[in-house]
Amino acid sequence: MSSTETTSSRRALREAMAAGTAVEIDLQSVTKQFTGTGAPAVEDFSLTIPAGEIVVFVGPSGCGKTTTMRMINRLVRPTSGRILIGGADAAKMKTDDLRRRIGYVVQQAGLLPHLTVRQNLEAVPRLLKWKSARIDERSSELFELVGLDEAEFADRYPRELSGGQQQRVGVARALAADPPILLMDEPFGALDPITRDRLQSELLKIQRRVRKTIVFVTHDIDEAIKLGDRVVVLKERSRIAQQGPPDEILANPADRYVRSFIGGGAAVKRLHLVRVEDLELERYPAFTEPEGYDEILRQLQETGYEYALLLDNHQRPQRWLHRDELQDRPGRPDLEGQAVQGVVMATTTLHDAMDEMLSSGTGVVPAVDDRGAYIGTVRLDQVTDALDDIHVTAVAEQEDSAPVQTLAEITGELDSRELQTAQEILDRERVARQRDETDGASTDDEPKETEGA
Ligand SMILES: Nc1ncnc2c1ncn2[C@@H]1O[C@H](COP(=O)(O)OP(=O)(O)OP(=O)(O)O)[C@@H](O)[C@H]1O
Ligand SMILES: [Mg+2]
Repeated sequence: MSSTETTSSRRALREAMAAGTAVEIDLQSVTKQFTGTGAPAVEDFSLTIPAGEIVVFVGPSGCGKTTTMRMINRLVRPTSGRILIGGADAAKMKTDDLRRRIGYVVQQAGLLPHLTVRQNLEAVPRLLKWKSARIDERSSELFELVGLDEAEFADRYPRELSGGQQQRVGVARALAADPPILLMDEPFGALDPITRDRLQSELLKIQRRVRKTIVFVTHDIDEAIKLGDRVVVLKERSRIAQQGPPDEILANPADRYVRSFIGGGAAVKRLHLVRVEDLELERYPAFTEPEGYDEILRQLQETGYEYALLLDNHQRPQRWLHRDELQDRPGRPDLEGQAVQGVVMATTTLHDAMDEMLSSGTGVVPAVDDRGAYIGTVRLDQVTDALDDIHVTAVAEQEDSAPVQTLAEITGELDSRELQTAQEILDRERVARQRDETDGASTDDEPKETEGA
């Protein structure tokens, strides 16, 4: 690269950094050898992280995920190799500049305990000497972005928040100065599964709005599949076992290591990649009370549906009413029906929708928009059809290689028609996840080596 090119790429980078526009990160043969240790923590790591994408590093504990990520904001200095950010050499940037322009989120949020939530959010913009009107405006935006009520939370201290709320503040703080890059190191690892799920979905929603280049570290393959535009499966010394879009990795794991990392039920995992809003939703006859039961009955007879859905005044699903019940008790204003057991959001993945259906035992679940209003209904057979589509795609992708696999081979044991089996796989996944979590907790207790030790 000539010196004029370097100057112009550095200027372009400075502008992108200031504007918060996503930039590409290019790691070239990066190695980290901690002093006094044997094998390098990261060995000859090369990867291009495209601008505006979420790239997830996934791999077992100690494989070098954190070290690799921390070389990007130079919390760890590479022993050799180069890191280009937006085409400019990161080693030539001022460390302070680099860190202020790269958002960083860690487990337990890493908030400053003696500062209020608002002060935590304002810390970096203040360092960057923003005007106070701009800081105020930005703080309000951030509260809105991560779904926290400003009036309620701004003046609390981190210890006065739940883990999930702290993590939201952690994400908001990392986004405060609108950096082009976000590094996230197991940010949701310490949260309960429900909160984790919700924050994962919210991160995707935020990313649709802000379009950052996000590097996300996890040891949970399900999280990697759900979040990643690209997934990078790592083994020891941060060596890349496979990288690519999640569906490609699930369809064609490169080797035994990747296969074992993905675990059983690959087809079921691919349901993480399809969302309720991608389906053609069916609309069961749906009513708010004042419309009267005779009208419901008439429409059921007309449409051939057995059930109608009763909504409240905000169009939120309340009860299923069966045709027979309506027929047997004409005109009765107090029909009980069956309470709706659960609903799914338009943005819910089919994996979670299937989970919902199996746990509510209905096989049919109403879908709602983000205000909770009824938009249609998902049936279990739509989910199993999606599994079959995935099968077809997987076979197409395999065309030139191995003999065509049957669905049962691809999924391990799943027969998509068998609800029972799907339930078992989900149960097994849940047990495995719990086991992982227990294992994870015990490894975290082990003392970590430190540099120079
Ligand atoms: N400061 C350090 N000094 C010496 N060795 C270190 C240091 N930091 C990390 N290591 C070693 O480098 C290797 C990779 O560690 P790293 O923290 O990057 O792993 P990880 O994949 O993030 O693991 P985990 O999933 O447990 O967070 C480990 O063997 C670790 O002990
Ligand atoms: Mg780590």
